[in-house]
Amino acid sequence: MGSLRRELEGILTEKELAKLRAFDLVGDIGVLRLPPELLPKKKEIGEALMRVHRHLKTVLLQVSPVKGEFRTRKLEVVAGEPRTETFHRESGCVFKVDLDKVYFSPRLAYERMRIARQVRGGEEVTNLFAGVGCSSIVIAKHSEAKAVYSVDKNPEAFRLMCENIRINRVGGRVLPLLGDAREVVSSKLRGRADRVLMPLPGAARQFLDTALEALKEGGGIVHFYDVGEEPDPFSPSISFLEREAGKRGWEVEVLNQRLLRSYGVRAYHLVLDLLLRPKGQK
Ligand SMILES: C[S@@+](CC[C@H](N)C(=O)[O-])C[C@H]1O[C@@H](n2cnc3c(N)ncnc32)[C@H](O)[C@@H]1O
Repeated sequence: MGSLRRELEGILTEKELAKLRAFDLVGDIGVLRLPPELLPKKKEIGEALMRVHRHLKTVLLQVSPVKGEFRTRKLEVVAGEPRTETFHRESGCVFKVDLDKVYFSPRLAYERMRIARQVRGGEEVTNLFAGVGCSSIVIAKHSEAKAVYSVDKNPEAFRLMCENIRINRVGGRVLPLLGDAREVVSSKLRGRADRVLMPLPGAARQFLDTALEALKEGGGIVHFYDVGEEPDPFSPSISFLEREAGKRGWEVEVLNQRLLRSYGVRAYHLVLDLLLRPKGQK
């Protein structure tokens, strides 16, 4: 950020420089978010970003928030080649992504690796919202998991996930499934998982039954992603889980809680690592 600011000195006023927001680097594409006051200078800012990060071939401006069932966003090319597809390297893996058609955030790299480090040899993992397969592939590469069932409803994410499984040579261990997580779990993945990933903050609560159905009979670990607000971001999610899982005959133990990043001023993207067991079972 500091070097982009320096590159833009003399092009933007002091006031404008103070308004610059953090950008993402995804493979050879830079992704900018700009406040309305800076939109007239988007081309100059995009070109400056390419001078600062010389490996970039394209700079995109995010013109809508991430939204909709597939969690995609509208993008506009402001500098370089007109494309939205690239290869991104992370944790010894390579991911092909199309930023226009699928969800992807390089900011979740630490979180993906954090989960992978917890996976024990022989585990079966069910990833309910796998996107282009990043978490599933990082798990397969960095653990001795037996299988990572990877579900996504977006056909473009599924297509790229299949390609990423091939590129990263994790075929046979990461198993891609196209469809709605509820239907896929009910029809193909009941009672299989030692561990369930629920990376759909804001909507994961609607899939609690699906996560419980996916777990093995004796229970297991669930990584539950949600949105929480100051002053007490975790409590509403924990209360929801204890109440709703309790009604269904399950006990919840919170093993770990973590804020991933802020959403706006007072809201956070958070994760709870949970141990879920049928009541009365030790
Ligand atoms: C936040 S993204 C997942 C990101 C991914 N875990 C990663 O690390 O890149 C959420 C994904 O859930 C998928 N999705 C949304 N609703 C779904 C559903 N009902 N069943 C399966 N996938 C769904 C979206 O298409 C999207 O790819």
